This record gives sequence, C-alpha cells and structure tokens, in this order.
Amino acid sequence: MGLKGRDLVSIRDLSREEVVEVLKASRRMLPYSEGSKIGHQLEGKVLTLAFFEPSTRTRLSFETAMARLGGRSVTISDPSASSLRKGETLYDTIRVIGQYGDAVVLRHPNEGAARLAAQASDRPVINAGDGAGQHPTQTLIDLATIEEKFGTLQGLNVVLLGDLKYGRTVHSLARALALFGTSLVLTAPPTLAMPEEVRKDLDSAGAKVQEEPELERAVKNADVLYVTRIQRERFGDEAEFAKVAGSYRVDPALLEPAKERMIVLHPLPRTGEISPSVDASPHAAYFRQAFLGVPVRMGLLSLILTGKAA
Ligand code: NCD
Repeated sequence: MGLKGRDLVSIRDLSREEVVEVLKASRRMLPYSEGSKIGHQLEGKVLTLAFFEPSTRTRLSFETAMARLGGRSVTISDPSASSLRKGETLYDTIRVIGQYGDAVVLRHPNEGAARLAAQASDRPVINAGDGAGQHPTQTLIDLATIEEKFGTLQGLNVVLLGDLKYGRTVHSLARALALFGTSLVLTAPPTLAMPEEVRKDLDSAGAKVQEEPELERAVKNADVLYVTRIQRERFGDEAEFAKVAGSYRVDPALLEPAKERMIVLHPLPRTGEISPSVDASPHAAYFRQAFLGVPVRMGLLSLILTGKAA
C-alpha cells in the first residue's frame, strides 16, 4: 500500500517488504547525504520536530535530511519554551502543530506518547523515541549499517548487550531482526533483561532467541555486537542504577577472539560501555552507523512525504 502518508510509531507498523523498501531508498540517498548530489525531492515540504527529551543525532539528522533534499524543518527542542509549560496537553500541542507542517517527528519521555500523537495529528507522525518504548527510525539505521557491512540481514548472529529493559532502540531492533530470521543473543545484567512484552512478540514471530549472560562467550560467535548505554534517566531509584553502572565494557581485549568481520554497533551516546581504544579497530562501526542516520531518514521521509524515493 506504500508508505505515503503513513505514521511510523512502532517498528511493527512496517512489514518486512516495507523495511526492505526503506533500506533500498536509503541506499539511493547516499550521494545526497554526502553532498555529492544536490537534492530537490522534498522542496516545499516542511517537517515539524517536537523534541521533549535530549537529542543530538536524531534531531540533527532529521533536520539535515530535510535540508539536503530541499525541504525545511521547524523545531521545538526546549519544552520549557513551549506552551506545554503553561499546562497544554500533548494532544492539543500535536493537534495544532500537526497542521503546520507535512509530518511531525516526536521524541517524548512517556511510552505511548507517539501513539497518542498519531491520533491527534492528521498528518503522519514519526516516533523518534517514546520513553522506554520504541525508536523505529534508529532501527532502520541499525539495519542499514548491518546490511551495508554484510550485504544481507539474513543468517546473522546478533548480540544485544546492555540495558535491554529500558533501551528503546533494542525493543525496536529485536522485533525487526525477527522479521529477517536473525539469531538473537541477549546479554544483559539480570535486572535489565528484555521485557516480557518484547519477548512475547519475538516468540510469536518465531525468532531464534537465546540468553547468554557471559559477554565473553556471546562475543565469540557474534556477527554483530550491539551495545547500549544503561538508561540512567529511566531508573526510579539512583541506588538501583549504581548497582549496575559499569557492569560491562567493550575493550580491545574482549574483541580479540571475535570473528574477523564482526562489527560493533551502538546507537550512541556511549557513556563508558565502549572504550575509545576500540574506535581504531576494524570492528568499530558505530560512527558509520551514526552517519547513516542522514540517508536513512532521507529515504524514509521521501517515502512518507512523497511516496517516492528517487
Ligand atoms: C538513543 C535513544 O535516544 O534512545 N539515542 C539515539 O537516538 N541515537 C540511545 C540512548 O539514548 O541510549
């Protein structure tokens, strides 16, 4: 049915074929994202960004994607300077700003906020992270990075490491990988295990999922080691955070026995879980991953705003 005019709230809003279509569109956007071709695909289009949580990459790569394709963006990035501060509901805010541009990108601390926004707005809503819920556009970037490296998403062994409880990127990524028959290995501190709700989705998709608490063992068979930050801001109790802080770290010694082609991904920001001495290793792919945010968001925005991705 095509992606034109559609919301992207959960990664489950996309079929496997649609994910493949976005990845294909993203590859075509590479020369535009690198600035070697000038794009006009989104001329006359306006994207409204409403960010109620901190962001560097997500916000700037959406804005860059619009700018490099000839479109424009308007942004709320300081919620204290908007009417939410006066007590306006999120529903009303989105109902109004949804009329201004051609689509809304929302980041919000509450899980479910993007779904609510999609009900409030007549125009498409793209979830750029809803609390500990999902982050589907990050997942498309993660998939694009894996595909660029391996030429496929099939038959790979992906280790998800870190805060699988609160990490929204892994909630979306695990579900997406299940569509491609990837083997998933979950490596998390016991108190930060993958939520039951996500596990159920993985089971019903017939995903191959295994738990491996020993990071050293998980790394040996990995094609992809996807590292996440402990989501400190989601802990109700700082003492609970202190118990798990620093409990895993990826360094060159850990990667020694890894497969030669294994890649290390991280949605960033990192806060100590990947040593900077890994950056020079051929395994490090997280900066490339961060760059691919631009072409992937170009591909996605073109499909949602125009139905095309040339
Ligand atoms: C992630 C997020 O906001 O969920 N960042 C991002 O978008 N690249 C990961 C994180 O904050 O840990």
